[in-house]
Amino acid sequence: MILADKKILLGVTGSIAAYKAILILRQLKSAGADVTVMMTASAKRFVTPLTFKVLSNKEVYSDLFGQEEGLPHLSLLEGCDLILIAPATANFINKMASGIADDLLSSLLLSARVPILVAPAMDSDMWKNPIVQKGISILRETGIRIIEPESGLLASGKEGEGRLASEDGIFEEVCRRLNIKRDLAGKVIIVTAGPTREPVDPVRFLSNRSSGKMGYAIAIAARDRGARVILISGITNLPKPEKVEFISAPTTHEMREAVLRHLPEASILIMAAAVADYRPKKPNLKKLKRSGSSLSIEMEETEDILEEIGKRNTKTILVGFAAETDEVINNAVMKLRKKNLDLIVANDITLEGGGFESDTNIAVIIDREGSVQELPLMHKRDLAQIILERVMALKERDTANT
Ligand code: CTP
Repeated sequence: MILADKKILLGVTGSIAAYKAILILRQLKSAGADVTVMMTASAKRFVTPLTFKVLSNKEVYSDLFGQEEGLPHLSLLEGCDLILIAPATANFINKMASGIADDLLSSLLLSARVPILVAPAMDSDMWKNPIVQKGISILRETGIRIIEPESGLLASGKEGEGRLASEDGIFEEVCRRLNIKRDLAGKVIIVTAGPTREPVDPVRFLSNRSSGKMGYAIAIAARDRGARVILISGITNLPKPEKVEFISAPTTHEMREAVLRHLPEASILIMAAAVADYRPKKPNLKKLKRSGSSLSIEMEETEDILEEIGKRNTKTILVGFAAETDEVINNAVMKLRKKNLDLIVANDITLEGGGFESDTNIAVIIDREGSVQELPLMHKRDLAQIILERVMALKERDTANT
C-alpha cells in the first residue's frame, strides 16, 4: 500500500465534477492513505457530506465556526502530508490567488506548509478567462502545483478544455508530489493468484488451501507502482482489486490458457497461484453416487505452466513461488533451475505466520545466481513490495546489459 502512512486532506469545491472526488477518495484510500475530506458550502449542493463520511470513514469538515472543536483550520493540518483540491472551481482558484480566507478550506490553505495540488474543473470559457489564468499563474508562482484540466465533453454539452483531470492522472500527481515510486509505470505485469480447482464431477472438485492473498497483494502493489496489471485468479474469497484487469481462471487448464494469451504483452510474470499438479483424468459427467465401497479416482498430471514458459526462454521476467514443508531452500533452488526462473519466493508453510491463509509470510527469495535473501515474518503487503523491488533490480540489470 504505497500511501500507507500518508495523511492527505482532500478539498472538494462546488463543481459538477464534485462527484469525481468520490472516485479520487476511493483510489487514495485503496492505496492506504488516511484521507480527510473538507467541503465548501457549494460542494455540498452537489454531493452530500455523508457520502464522503462513509467512504473516508471520517468526519467531513466544512464549517470554520461550526461543530468542530478548537481551530479546525489549524488542527486538521497536524501530520498532514499533502493537500489536494479536486475539483477546484474558478471561484475557489481566484479566492486562493488573492488570499481570501472566508471558509474553512480557504483559511486552512493560508496556514498550510505542505505541498498543495489543485485540479481545476470548469467550463472552457471560464478556464480561458484571463482572470482565471492570472489566478492559476499566481498559484504556480507560490509553488502550488496545477493538475491541468483535460479537453472533452463538458457539463454544458460543449466540447472544450476544462474537464477535471482523470482520477489516474490525479493519483499519479499525488504520488509524484509525495515522492512515491511509480517505477512500474508503462510495464505490463501478469500475476496469478489463488488455488486452482479440478472437477471430480459437476458438484465436487479437488483444490488446495491457497487464499490468494499473496498474489492479490502483489497485484495491488504493482498497480500502485504504476503497472498495468493482469490478475489471473483461481476462485478466492477476496474482493476484486480495483483498476486491475481481472481474469477468472478456476482450473489449471483455464489458467494456462489465460497466461499464454496475455504473455506476449507482459514483461513480468509472477506465478503466485497454487496450481494443481494433478487432476481427475475423466471428471464424471454426472454426480458420483455413494456406492458402499471405496472409490478410486484416476488422476493425470496437469500442465506445468511456469515450466512450459521457462523452457521458451522468453524475455519476460519469471517469478515462481514454492510453498514447502521441508528442505525449503533446496527444493526451491531445484524448481528455479527446472523451470528456468529469474526469482523464486519460497516459504515453509509449517511455520507459524507463514501459511496459506495467513496475512503474513516468512519467505526466502532466491535468484538465478543462487543468492538467498532470508526475510523475517512480515505482512504479505510488505513482502509484495520487496518482491517487486527485486524484479525491478533485475529489469534494471537487464537494461544495463543490453
Ligand atoms: N506451477 C505452475 N503450473 C503447475 C504447478 C505449479 O505454473 N502445474 C507454478 C506455481 O504457480 C509456482 C511454481 O510453479 O509458482 C512452483 O509450484 P509448486 O506447486 O511449488 O511446484 P511443483 O513444480 O508443482 O512441485 P511440487 O511437486 O513441490 O508441487
